[in-house]
Amino acid sequence: MISRKCTSVVSVVGMICLVVVLVCALQPKAALAETPYDKEIKPLTTAECAQCHFSVFEAIKADGGKHQIDCVRCHTEYHVYSPRKQNFDQIMPKCSACHLSASGGAFHGEAKDLTPCLNCHANPHKPLMMPMPAEASCAQCHAKEGNEIKNYPSKHTTDVACTDCHAEKHGFIPSCDACHESHSPAVQLSVQDCMACHPVHKPTNISYPKDTASPICAGCHDDVNNLLRNRLTKHTQVKCADCHPAHKEIPPCSRCHGEPHPKMVVDVTKCGECHGIAHDLSQ
Ligand code: HEC
Ligand code: HEC
Ligand code: HEC
Ligand code: HEC
Ligand code: HEC
Ligand code: HEC
Ligand code: HEC
Ligand code: HEC
Ligand code: HEC
Ligand code: HEC
Ligand code: HEC
Ligand code: HEC
Repeated sequence: MISRKCTSVVSVVGMICLVVVLVCALQPKAALAETPYDKEIKPLTTAECAQCHFSVFEAIKADGGKHQIDCVRCHTEYHVYSPRKQNFDQIMPKCSACHLSASGGAFHGEAKDLTPCLNCHANPHKPLMMPMPAEASCAQCHAKEGNEIKNYPSKHTTDVACTDCHAEKHGFIPSCDACHESHSPAVQLSVQDCMACHPVHKPTNISYPKDTASPICAGCHDDVNNLLRNRLTKHTQVKCADCHPAHKEIPPCSRCHGEPHPKMVVDVTKCGECHGIAHDLSQ
C-alpha cells in the first residue's frame, strides 16, 4: 500500500522532471557546442614571448636598461624570417625608428664609423654592454680629450692609459676613489667636487671657486690653518680661497685694504713690520 502523501510527492517530482526536459529540449543547439574558434584572440604579451625566448627575456631583464619595454614595440614584425628570402636584416627593428639626433640625422652624428649601431651596441637587448675599442683608436673619435691630455702633461698623461680609467666597457666613467684617497679626509668630497678643482684630463690645471671650504686647504696646510684658528684675529673669518683665489697666489694687502694709513705717517709698504703676517696679525 502506498500512502496518499507518497503519491503526491511522486507526482510533484514527475512534474519537475517534465519541465526540465522541456526546457532543455527548447534550448538552441549552438550554445552547447562552443568551438576553439569562438575565443577572442589577444596579441602575445612580453611574458608570453619569454616562454619561448627565455634567454632574450633574461638578457633584457638583467642588462636591458631603458630597453625594458615590450618586445613588440621594437619587433613590429616577427616570425616572418625566411631562409629563402634571406630577409633577416630587413625584418629586424631599426634603431633609427626610435633614435635620431636632434637634427633628425644619425644618433651620434653622420661619421661612417658610427654605423651600423650594432658595431658598438653589440646586443640590442643589452644596449649598454659594449666591447672596449682598442686604446690606439680612442683619440680618433675623441680628439678633444686626446688633445687635452697631451697638451697638459700630468701623471694622467704619463702613468695612466685611457682604458685604465675607462675600463670594463666603452663609455664607463671611473670614480676618483678607485685610485686615490682624499687628501682632505676631514671634508666629504664627491667626484664632482674633485673635478671642480682637477679637470680630470688636465688634473694639474687646478682652479677653485672663492667659496671653497677652508678645511679642504687645511688637508695639506694644517700648519697655516692652525695658526689662523688659534690666534683669533679678523683674518680668522676670511676664507683661504678669498685671499688666495688661485693656488700659490699671494695677495697684496692693498687688494682688500686699499691705503689704510696716510703715506706721510708710516712706511706703509712694510705692513708686516707692525702687523705680523696675514695668518697671524697679532704677532
Ligand atoms: C629596443 C628594441 C628591442 C626590444 C625591446 C627587443 N628586441 Fe629583440 N631584437 C632587436 C634587434 C635590433 C634585433 C636584431 C639583432 C641583430 O641584427 O643581430 C633583435 C633580435 C631578436 C631576435 C633574433 C636574434 C636572436 O638574438 O636570437 C629574437 C629572437 C628577439 N630579438 C626576441 C626578442 C624578445 C622575445 C623580446 C622581448 C622579451 C625582444 N626581442 C625585445 C631589438 C629589440
Ligand atoms: C611558442 C614559442 C614562441 C613564442 C611564444 C614566440 N616565439 Fe619567436 N620564435 C620562436 C621560434 C621557434 C623561432 C625560430 C627559431 C629562433 O630563431 O630562435 C622564433 C623566432 C623569432 C624571431 C627571429 C626570426 C623572425 O622570424 O623574426 C623573433 C624576432 C621572434 N621570434 C620574436 C618573438 C616575439 C617578439 C614574440 C612575442 C610577441 C615571440 N617571438 C614569441 C618561438 C616563439
Ligand atoms: C621601439 C623603440 C626603440 C628602438 C627600435 C630602439 N630603442 Fe633604444 N631606447 C628606446 C627607449 C624608449 C629608450 C629610453 C629613452 C631614450 O634614451 O631615448 C632607449 C634607450 C637606449 C639606450 C640607452 C639605454 C640606457 O639604459 O640608458 C641605448 C644605448 C639605445 N637605446 C640603443 C639602441 C640601439 C643601438 C638600437 C638599435 C639596435 C635601439 N636602441 C633601438 C627605444 C628604442
Ligand atoms: C663607436 C661606438 C658607438 C656607435 C657606433 C654607436 N654608439 Fe651609441 N653610444 C656609444 C657610447 C660609448 C655611449 C655611451 C654609453 C654610456 O653612457 O655608458 C652611447 C650611448 C648611446 C645612447 C644613449 C644616450 C643617452 O644619452 O642616454 C643611445 C640612445 C645610442 N647610443 C644610440 C646609438 C645609435 C642609434 C647608434 C647608431 C646610429 C649608435 N648609438 C652607434 C657608442 C656608440
Ligand atoms: C669609432 C668611434 C669611437 C672610438 C674609436 C671610441 N669611441 Fe668612445 N664614444 C664614441 C661615441 C659615438 C660615444 C657616445 C658619445 C655620446 O654619447 O655623445 C662615445 C662615448 C665615450 C665616452 C663617454 C660616455 C658618456 O658618458 O658620455 C667615453 C668615456 C669614451 N667614449 C671613451 C672611449 C675610449 C677610452 C676609447 C678608446 C678605448 C673610445 N672611447 C673609442 C665613439 C668612439
Ligand atoms: C685618470 C682617469 C682618466 C683618464 C686617464 C682618461 N679619462 Fe676620460 N674621463 C675620466 C672621467 C672621470 C670622466 C668624466 C668627466 C666628467 O664627468 O666631467 C671622463 C670623461 C671622458 C669622456 C666624456 C667626456 C664628456 O664630455 O662627456 C671621454 C670621451 C673621455 N673621457 C675620453 C678619454 C680618452 C680618449 C682618454 C685617453 C686619451 C681619457 N679619457 C683618459 C677619467 C679619465
Ligand atoms: C685608474 C686610476 C686612476 C683614476 C680613476 C684617477 N687617477 Fe688620478 N692618478 C692616477 C695615478 C696612477 C697618478 C700618479 C700617481 C699619483 O700621484 O698618485 C695620478 C695622479 C693624479 C694627480 C696628480 C697629477 C700630477 O701630475 O701630479 C691628480 C691631481 C689626480 N690624479 C686627480 C685625479 C682625480 C680628480 C680623479 C677623478 C676624477 C682621478 N685622479 C682618477 C690614477 C688614477
Ligand atoms: C679645492 C680644490 C681641491 C679639491 C676639491 C681637490 N683637490 Fe686635489 N689638489 C688640490 C691642490 C691645490 C693640490 C696640490 C697641487 C700641487 O701640489 O701643486 C692637489 C693635489 C692632488 C693630488 C696630487 C697628489 C697629492 O696628494 O699631493 C691628487 C692625487 C689629488 N689632488 C686628488 C684629488 C681628489 C681625488 C680629490 C677629490 C676627493 C681632490 N683632489 C679634491 C686641490 C683640490
Ligand atoms: C693636496 C695638497 C694641497 C692642497 C689641498 C692645497 N695645497 Fe696649497 N700647496 C700645496 C703644495 C705642495 C704647495 C707648494 C709648497 C711649497 O712650495 O713649499 C702649496 C703651496 C701653496 C701656496 C703658496 C706657498 C708659497 O710658498 O708661495 C699657497 C698660498 C697655497 N698653497 C694655498 C692653498 C689654498 C688656499 C688651498 C685651498 C684652496 C690649498 N693651498 C690647497 C699643496 C696643497
Ligand atoms: C687675509 C688673507 C689671507 C688668508 C685668510 C689666508 N692667507 Fe695664506 N697668505 C696670505 C698672505 C698675504 C701670505 C704671504 C705671507 C704674508 O705676508 O703673510 C700668505 C701665505 C700663505 C702660504 C705660504 C707661506 C706660509 O705661511 O706657509 C700658504 C701655504 C698659505 N698662505 C695658505 C693659506 C691657507 C691654507 C689659508 C686658510 C687656512 C690661508 N692661507 C689664509 C694671506 C692670507
Ligand atoms: C681678501 C681680502 C684681504 C686681504 C688680501 C688682506 N686682508 Fe686684512 N682684513 C680683511 C678683512 C675682511 C678684515 C676684517 C675687516 C673688518 O672686520 O672690518 C681684515 C682686517 C685686517 C686688520 C684689522 C685687524 C683687527 O683685528 O682689527 C688688519 C691689521 C689687516 N687686515 C691687515 C692685513 C694685512 C697686513 C694684509 C696683507 C698681509 C691683509 N690684511 C690682507 C681682508 C683682507
Ligand atoms: C708703522 C706701523 C704700521 C704699518 C707699517 C702699517 N700699519 Fe696698519 N695699523 C697700525 C696701527 C698702530 C693700527 C691701529 C691698530 C689698532 O687700532 O688696534 C693699524 C690699523 C690697521 C688696520 C685696521 C684699520 C681699522 O680701521 O680698523 C688695517 C686694515 C691696517 N692697519 C692695515 C695695514 C696695511 C694693509 C698696511 C700696509 C700697507 C699697514 N697697515 C701698515 C700700524 C701700522
